[in-house]
Amino acid sequence: MQRIAMLGGGFIGRFYAESLHGQRSRDRVVAIYARREETAKKFADDYGCSVWSTDMEEVIAHPDVDMVCIALPNNLHEPAVQLCAKHKKNVVCTKPLGRNADEALRMVQVVEEAGIFAGYLEDLCYTPKFLKAMESVKNGALGRILWAKSRETHPGPHSNWFWDKEQAGGGCMLDLGCHCVEIARNFIGKDVRPVEVMCWAATQVKPIDAEDHAIALVKYENGAIGQFEVSWTFRGGMDLRDEVMGTEGTIWINNFLRTGFEMFTTGKGADYVAEKAESNTGWLFPVGDEVNDLGYNHMFTDMFFAAEEGREAAETFYDGYVVNAILDAAYKSAETKQWEPVNLPVWRGKEGLSQEQTLTDYDEQHYLIKEEVTHDGRHKVILKEKASGKIVERDLV
Ligand SMILES: NC(=O)c1ccc[n+]([C@@H]2O[C@H](COP(=O)([O-])OP(=O)(O)OC[C@H]3O[C@@H](n4cnc5c(N)ncnc54)[C@H](O)[C@@H]3O)[C@@H](O)[C@H]2O)c1
Repeated sequence: MQRIAMLGGGFIGRFYAESLHGQRSRDRVVAIYARREETAKKFADDYGCSVWSTDMEEVIAHPDVDMVCIALPNNLHEPAVQLCAKHKKNVVCTKPLGRNADEALRMVQVVEEAGIFAGYLEDLCYTPKFLKAMESVKNGALGRILWAKSRETHPGPHSNWFWDKEQAGGGCMLDLGCHCVEIARNFIGKDVRPVEVMCWAATQVKPIDAEDHAIALVKYENGAIGQFEVSWTFRGGMDLRDEVMGTEGTIWINNFLRTGFEMFTTGKGADYVAEKAESNTGWLFPVGDEVNDLGYNHMFTDMFFAAEEGREAAETFYDGYVVNAILDAAYKSAETKQWEPVNLPVWRGKEGLSQEQTLTDYDEQHYLIKEEVTHDGRHKVILKEKASGKIVERDLV
């Protein structure tokens, strides 16, 4: 059993608490820190916390607490992690880990020096669909991964601090791109070095300093490419989609807006539909169990078992730092309009990979390019002559 202190009683703090107390969970949120007394008190009442306070350090240091869960605005992640290290409390922190890679790296270093457990709460790398997809990728069902694309777009976040570049550290790219980058890293291989990024970002709609729409390509050392599309100006709900393409197969995942659950209502008895849903009348796309479908249950299960077994969770602070470094390069590229290198002063993955090429022999003289049965019933192959390099085709009978 973990006795958890929740730091932050807002949107994600409550989602996390729903997951932590859901079903027949043995873990309990015993303490809550929030900035405002009424938020802390209400959270404590709703989730049965015995400790509530507007003093963060008091909550972290409380003897009843053995795991701290950071659900605070982005600019408060680092100070909260520093306090956890000071009081030697295990910690799990929501995304993005830092506002930039410098902050994130300091967090990696301080938890490692303190010898405490530190998990990165990247829930979208724990959804049931993601976990199943990862299993197929690991088993080789898709062959060599060439391209991993992830999209997260919605009509914008629910609290003022997200829209303030200083507190949030960026706009939709940091807020949503961090999920997409980590999803692609998992599919491509977390030990494969991200090399450079090309990014377009713009403030198309909202009166803010940060970007509200961005698209980027992330090149990996083995030749694979990651891609993300993020927006705070998308209309129609929350669109979470992933695509993975390999030499032997393809995966398409729709996590939220089209889950196979469609409903129409005139609006009678209209209620909450799903996160960021823009309407509760007409055709709707509810989500069966948001807490589970967004990965929170599987995420906390992995985090707490890892802490208890003395191993790392699947998502660590180090992963959060790599994600921040990729996004730092994306921000730079959006400014310079050039491919920008990913700066990773600490890198623990493979070194010196080169672009893999797999040539399929057709016979001694030829490589196979493609085999196809055409609509007129022909079975043909397209081949490359090894000696001359000439491309030829042959009908098979
Ligand atoms: N899927 C996800 O993993 C996911 C989803 C949403 C948010 N988040 C992350 O969770 C963190 C919190 O986001 P949220 O949506 O819960 O925000 P929120 O505004 O709903 O809640 C933030 C809470 O932090 C506390 N707080 C303490 N000091 C504060 C301050 N100076 N300003 C504002 N709040 C302060 C308050 O209790 C507040 O309720 C962010 O880092 C965000 O990126 C993650």
